[in-house]
Amino acid sequence: MATILITGGTGYIGAHAAAELMAAGWDVVLLDNLRNSTPGVLDRLAALTGKRAPFVQADVRDAAALDQVFAAHRIEAVMHFAGLKSVGQSWQQAALYLDNNVGGTACLVAAMERASVRRLVFSSSATVYGEPDGVPIPESAPLRSTNPYGRSKLLCEDMLRELQGADSRWQVALLRYFTPVGAHPSALLGESPQGVPNNLMPYIAQVAAGLRPELQVFGQDYPTLDGTGVRDYIHVVDLAQGHVAALRYVQQSGKGITVNLGTGQGISVLQMVRAFEAASGRPVALRFVDRRPGDVAACYAATDLAHSALGWRAQLPLSAMCADAWRWQQALAADRAE
Ligand code: NAD
Ligand code: UD1
Repeated sequence: MATILITGGTGYIGAHAAAELMAAGWDVVLLDNLRNSTPGVLDRLAALTGKRAPFVQADVRDAAALDQVFAAHRIEAVMHFAGLKSVGQSWQQAALYLDNNVGGTACLVAAMERASVRRLVFSSSATVYGEPDGVPIPESAPLRSTNPYGRSKLLCEDMLRELQGADSRWQVALLRYFTPVGAHPSALLGESPQGVPNNLMPYIAQVAAGLRPELQVFGQDYPTLDGTGVRDYIHVVDLAQGHVAALRYVQQSGKGITVNLGTGQGISVLQMVRAFEAASGRPVALRFVDRRPGDVAACYAATDLAHSALGWRAQLPLSAMCADAWRWQQALAADRAE
């Protein structure tokens, strides 16, 4: 089989996608500037798959480096994960988010065009739905952004839609992720947030591990079942398999697609806390605080299109998301103790 270039390949989702692609028989080349990941991921991927993936340390905004990668490998498609993803940071550094996420995507697409590689799987986000009119959210829902990070994803989507509309040789899968969580069940791959975690699951894991005293629950007066925010959490291994399904779809149909990757099930913050306590056997102390600015009450996916077009459905339950995140948290603690 031909080779897939994975940008952001040492990152959280990119590394899981690499593992699933390799397990399905593809060769991969990973490219990353290591801004938010470490090369240790490459050893762990090799331990997991029995094969060492070639790695290029480069920025997706470096045209010459991209040209070299396309010249050195027979790339048949690109999975583009490289990007910055912190909503809070995007308010402080809006220009950086535009340059890195939008400029990076433009530079990648130009290099792909020069190399006549026109098949792309892009990491978009449910953030492009902004404050949704209703749930579950279908792909046809209005698109809007509530922060510079979300705007950067919308601009990338617009650019890629434009490209595909103008030149039918381009096949682009825009994958709108809901809330990815968990880790590889081997505990070899997972997310290691630097500093205070922004997201719920890594925060809960650190409270359960005794690294933080309590979870702050952002808001208890949302119009949801228990007043806390509801999200569509999806196991990162399911998400990675969704990428393999999307790649097969564009290969076989010769067409692009825009599709949600979620479970279709809404889970509240308190439900997540209880599930994590059950999986870890540890208590998670919590305190209610004000809502987080920019948060929506409920956000979960309509999943019909993913099932009918890609033949893919998320399989792993909340208990597996929590058990795998906890195993990964313990592996991180063991690493630090060494
Ligand atoms: P991550 O930070 O773990 O991985 C992204 C990787 O890209 C990192 O290894 C980083 O070093 C690299 N990178 C960033 N800018 C780069 C550049 N200019 N050139 C080369 N490498 C660069 O994040 P992740 O959670 O794996 O997210 C992957 C993609 O999925 C991102 O585009 C993100 O916006 C998108 N996404 C993530 C989530 C989520 O909750 N994790 C949700 C929706 C969408
Ligand atoms: C957030 C981002 C989103 C991004 C996604 C993945 C915001 C406004 N949204 O989404 O753009 O794509 O992360 O990176 O930042 N919560 C707490 N306490 C915490 C952390 C979270 O109560 O310490 C609550 C939140 O209010 C929310 C839920 O937990 O109701 C999930 O939060 P989070 O994990 O940050 O994911 P999203 O809100 O889906």
